[in-house]
Amino acid sequence: MSTTPAPEQSAQSHDRFEAVVNLTKRRGFVFPSAEIYGGLRSSYDYGPLGTLMLRNLKDAWWRAMVQERDDVVPIDAAILTNPRVWEASGHLSTFTDPLVDCRNCKERLRADHLENGVCPNCGSTDLTEARPFNLMFKTFVGPVEDDAAVAYLRPETAQGMFVNFANVLTTTRRRPPFGIAQIGRSFRNEITPGNFVFRTREFEQMEMEFFCHPDEAEQWHRYWCEERMAWYLRYGMPASLLRLRPHDKDELAHYAAASSDVEFLFPWGWGELEGIANRTDFDLRAHSEHSGVRLEYFDQATGERFTPYVIEPAAGATRAMMAFLLAAYDEDEIGGERRTVLRLHPRLAPYQVAVLPLSRKENLAQLARDVHARLRRRFICDYDDTQSIGRRYRRQDEIGTPWCVTVDFDSLEDDAVTIRDRDSTDQRRVPIAGLVAEIAALVGD
Ligand code: GAP
Repeated sequence: MSTTPAPEQSAQSHDRFEAVVNLTKRRGFVFPSAEIYGGLRSSYDYGPLGTLMLRNLKDAWWRAMVQERDDVVPIDAAILTNPRVWEASGHLSTFTDPLVDCRNCKERLRADHLENGVCPNCGSTDLTEARPFNLMFKTFVGPVEDDAAVAYLRPETAQGMFVNFANVLTTTRRRPPFGIAQIGRSFRNEITPGNFVFRTREFEQMEMEFFCHPDEAEQWHRYWCEERMAWYLRYGMPASLLRLRPHDKDELAHYAAASSDVEFLFPWGWGELEGIANRTDFDLRAHSEHSGVRLEYFDQATGERFTPYVIEPAAGATRAMMAFLLAAYDEDEIGGERRTVLRLHPRLAPYQVAVLPLSRKENLAQLARDVHARLRRRFICDYDDTQSIGRRYRRQDEIGTPWCVTVDFDSLEDDAVTIRDRDSTDQRRVPIAGLVAEIAALVGD
């Protein structure tokens, strides 16, 4: 299957990519990590707006995967755990990428990312043989740096769900089918991180392990593929930039019987946002064998004892944020003036509302502060009283704020404010008393 977009789409997208990366830096979504020290390759810090957006995105996942369901429970497992977890899961032996060195420029490269065996850095074909490189970050727990103290930063959140399977089963009295969900940081010592936050060494995952009867695994796999595609559409991802791609047999991870990727059309082609795998009973069996603790389910109604199969929708939060930003970026013309606008879904935008007093005069500022105080109890809300109103609208458009509430001198008389819509730029007058309900109806969902 082709991974290359049509040329015109690709050219447009490369410009868009540059524009989005610049915007995220300029407006405080994403900064190179520790920039005052020259940064660290492919390590990023999330600024005020990026932190808000990332949190909104994780909340949106949480709502769909935990809050709105009665068959999924959450956990929050440790990043550092017993290293035997990684032995049992197969990560110690098989979580590797093929590494080659360029003998000419000394660059280290991923063999499976090379085109025709050519070093992308210097063009040389004088490369070493590929050898497996384990992606897990190794560290030592405690003051003694010996083999007994070795631990790993988790490369996926998933194992936290498997090793807690029995605990969750007994404490919540669940029975399959049910899921355990978790959002958290994962770490991989990627050989070639890059493409901004697409591939980094530290990133956030949103994963759910859904335990079901083996006979129902295929059906649940189809179900979760549909659910997860629908989630991206629900939050405004255009269908034309999204596809579901089933894996070929030779692509499957060591634990998977089947897998499909939700892919986004990045400037460099289709790239994975989320993998939805049928992990079979691989993990529960492996942990049973290594720990000696039986990880199975006994169905008292039928008398059947079985090791559940697992369907796993595993998404990247930071990668999804980048895709939503790329999809939302737009430039248009309003009243003869060019503007940049992020057409983000209201639930994902850093701010849902901005309150803009027309003047800093005390009586107006007081009313605007009151309006702001009412709104911020329900919504993530900005307050901006600097520069002209036109410039403030542009600034809010550029960071994706769907609605601006303008407090003007008439507001002092009529107890009403103007709501301006980011996308249409239409404005209408609304009584202050009904403002919170009005914005809530607009945010919807
Ligand atoms: N538990 C299964 C698992 O971890 P994965 O496909 O390796 O599966 C799931 O990872 C998601 O995590 C990916 O679809 C991607 O969105 C995100 N991800 C993986 N590696 C990443 C990296 N180095 N940087 C940013 N996101 C990454």
